[in-house]
Amino acid sequence: MKVEPVARLDGHIAVPGDKSISHRALLVGAVCDGEVLVRQWGRSGDTESTLGAVRALGVEVEERDVDTLVVHGTGVRGLRPSDGPVDCGNAGTLVRLLAGLLAFQDGRFELTGDESLSRRPMDRIVLPLERMGASVEATDGHLPLTVEGRPLRGIEYELPVASAQVKSAVLLAGLGARGKTTVVEPVPTRDHTELMLEAAGARVRRGARSVSVEPAARLHLDEVLVPGDISSAAPFLVAAALLPGSSLTVHDLGLNPRRVGLLDVLERMGVRVGVLNRRRVAGELVGDVEVTGTHELVATRVGAAEVPALVDELPLVALLGAFAHGETVVTGAEELRAKESDRIETVTAALRALGVRVEARTDGFSVRGTPARPRGGAVDAAGDHRIAMLGAVAGAVSREGVRLEGADSVGISFPGFFDLLDSVVA
Ligand code: S3P
Repeated sequence: MKVEPVARLDGHIAVPGDKSISHRALLVGAVCDGEVLVRQWGRSGDTESTLGAVRALGVEVEERDVDTLVVHGTGVRGLRPSDGPVDCGNAGTLVRLLAGLLAFQDGRFELTGDESLSRRPMDRIVLPLERMGASVEATDGHLPLTVEGRPLRGIEYELPVASAQVKSAVLLAGLGARGKTTVVEPVPTRDHTELMLEAAGARVRRGARSVSVEPAARLHLDEVLVPGDISSAAPFLVAAALLPGSSLTVHDLGLNPRRVGLLDVLERMGVRVGVLNRRRVAGELVGDVEVTGTHELVATRVGAAEVPALVDELPLVALLGAFAHGETVVTGAEELRAKESDRIETVTAALRALGVRVEARTDGFSVRGTPARPRGGAVDAAGDHRIAMLGAVAGAVSREGVRLEGADSVGISFPGFFDLLDSVVA
């Protein structure tokens, strides 16, 4: 498809429920006792993979509405082997969290995924789970993964990479282990798992750099109200920031402090960001975010300590850098190479094709900006939803537009993305 340049974005929008929390609502809900009502569930390709997975494991889930689910939890140890392999599709969060949860269930489980997921590293969960006594076998460090339920013991595990998925896999396995399980993080990552387990009655203790969970005999959650996904709002916030005269408000957005790195970066670069109506909903911070477009962006630096707070938004930071005075540099982000695509390479290729001066580094990238709109051209999403959305925003803020190959991959996290974008073009 062709994404045409636009003058500015204007209006008030809401985005679908947070993908990370939507996965967790199903996975934690599946091991609760009784019914869990999930509202504002973010329906997407990835979360539908999780819906299919928990159903395959014997959990009944009613779809009351497109974004309202009732999960009939089967108890902490109630998951049952499916007939065939559990297909995790494109979803890294699903396969890693589920492996932790299955490590102490009765039976043998096989987890598979699509071509992209099958290229992503699984050793990062196999190693700590094996230390807990689990039987988890990857195929050369990749999918398919075979998990055979075993009695587990609690461990203290220092994460070698800052990863919420690995932390969550270990904590979920800890629910069924003997003794306490502790995860120590090099840099704090999103804490949705800890918050939800706490809400479900698990004994969770949090330190500055660590989190512990005690084994749980039963969990109970009445309701999960999922806040809007800041990662889905990000392309809109960035497009509005880059188009002078824009004024865009995204309502009911999740503002978990470990997810809002993009808002800090926007402000440092000179964008006016207003947060209104700040409140707490079911343990998570929520608010409305307003962004005003500007001509005057300044370059910034993002390093390892900040990366987890905007890891999925880093492709958009590169685009912001293309408009900023000076050199924008992202370092300490080698994890980008282990995402749905090698995002250091795919971001660099996409922006370079549009006339942006961008260089790949082993652990990030650097961009030399200019206030003029980039020319435009062709972008290949490389099967990666975040690159497809980057290409779309780049088209909107370019001079000549962008021909976007593989635009349909936005459906992995945000099926209604293009319609919502059309609705705010002014
Ligand atoms: C996620 C954690 C991050 C993020 C991913 C979702 C999660 O991955 O990139 O999109 O829901 O826990 P890592 O934990 O591998 O950094």
